[in-house]
This record gives sequence, structure tokens and C-alpha cells, in this order.
Amino acid sequence: MKIIKVSNSTEMAKTAGEMIAEKVRANPEIVLGLATGGTPIGTYQYLIEDHKENGTSYSKASSVNLDEYIGLPKTDPNSYYFFMKTNLFDHLDISPERTFIPDGTADDLEAECTNYEKRIAELGGVDLQLLGIGRNGHIAFNEPGTSFDSRTQIVSLAEETITDNARFFSSPEEVPTKAISMGIATILESKEIILLANGKSKAEALHSLIKGEVTEDFPASALQRHGNVTIIADEDALSLINDI
Ligand code: GLP
Repeated sequence: MKIIKVSNSTEMAKTAGEMIAEKVRANPEIVLGLATGGTPIGTYQYLIEDHKENGTSYSKASSVNLDEYIGLPKTDPNSYYFFMKTNLFDHLDISPERTFIPDGTADDLEAECTNYEKRIAELGGVDLQLLGIGRNGHIAFNEPGTSFDSRTQIVSLAEETITDNARFFSSPEEVPTKAISMGIATILESKEIILLANGKSKAEALHSLIKGEVTEDFPASALQRHGNVTIIADEDALSLINDI
């Protein structure tokens, strides 16, 4: 794993944004794997600015998102559909027909999961996957204990995740307890992965990811088995790693 240490979250966003925009320019038909949460927002802002100022075009690109809450309609400001639309898609020239997010309100959620995997395969797989990391080591919504062989599936959120994500809702009770999440095996098939982390709250998770054993008890450790991962993290998030 390549580790890029930056001074703060602004630098993290710029470094990641530059890398992503460059890859989009080099491969206009790129399939981007996209993440939600607080961490990637600055990177998305960078991509929007870059699109406006430098004209980087997404007109031929596609995107697949990692996950979506079950039960939240697209109009709900806490749905990941709404997040992506307002934080990124509405401000780029990407075609809405080529942006894919699991539908957490589908009548047949199992079929939705199967179809999502098929869609990723039809796109030829993910070229560049952007990831955040949960404090408990989750990637997407793959909580501790998830099989490394997992594919897109219905998952239950860990208590810690519900507590962490409650900051976006009016109360913890409003946080959905289930989600559709791309699996670990799906994520590992991405050709390239960029993982972002900032802040002291992610320091232990990053330490386990970089120095810990590969175990399903810590889902992000699966990334140690991938040959093309870049971690872009700030000093706070890397504060428990002494040798970089
Ligand atoms: C969320 C998302 C993950 C994200 C993680 C960290 O629940 N499902 O994809 O990486 O938790 O979120 P944040 O960036 O807000 O710390």
C-alpha cells in the first residue's frame, strides 16, 4: 500500500481530487467507484472546481456507489442518492443514466443486490474506487465479521456505525439499521483504490489497516490483499504510525 501523508483535510481533498481528475482526463470512459460520508466531501468540491475551471469532463464516465440505506427514498436528504446528487453529480456533466447507486426502496432488495453486481460487471468493473473508513474498520457498510468473499448484499449496521452516522440525522433512532452494500470481494476487484482518512478519530482504524493482521474482524484489512491501494491521510489520522 502506498501512503501519502498530508497536513490536513484540505490537503487530503486536493491531493485526492488531483489524482482523480487526472485519471478522468486520461481515461474519459472511466468507471468511478464513489463513497459517501463526511470524508470525501472536500474531494468532491475539488472535482467540481476542477470541472468548472479546467473543463475536466465526465460526459463519458460512469459511476457506481458503494452503498445505500434501506428504506430512505431518493428525496430524503440523508439518502446516499441525495448526497451524491447534491454534493457531486448536479455540478458535473456526468449523465444521470450512468450514475448508479443501489435502490434501498426496491420491492425486491435481494434482486436489487444481484442486479447491482451485474451492472458493475456490465460496466467492465470499477477502474478507480474511492473509499473512506469507519472507526470500526468498515469499508462501504461492510461491518466487522463480513466475509472477504462477500458480494453486494443487505447488511445490518453496527451500533458504532449508527452512533457515528447519527450526526447527520435528527436523532439516532432515525438512522436506518440496514443498508445495501457492495461486498468486500466486489471492492477488491476494483483496478485501483484510493482510501481517504482524516482526523484523530480515524487514527486507530488506520493503524489497524496499515499494521494489523488481515482478518474479517477488521474489514478494511482486506485491502492489504489488493495490489494497487493508495491511502491519502492527514497527520492526525496517521498519528499512530511512527515510520512514515
Ligand atoms: C459511512 C459509509 C462509509 C464511509 C464511513 C466513514 O457510514 N458507509 O462508506 O467511509 O462510514 O464515514 P465518514 O467519512 O463520515 O467518517
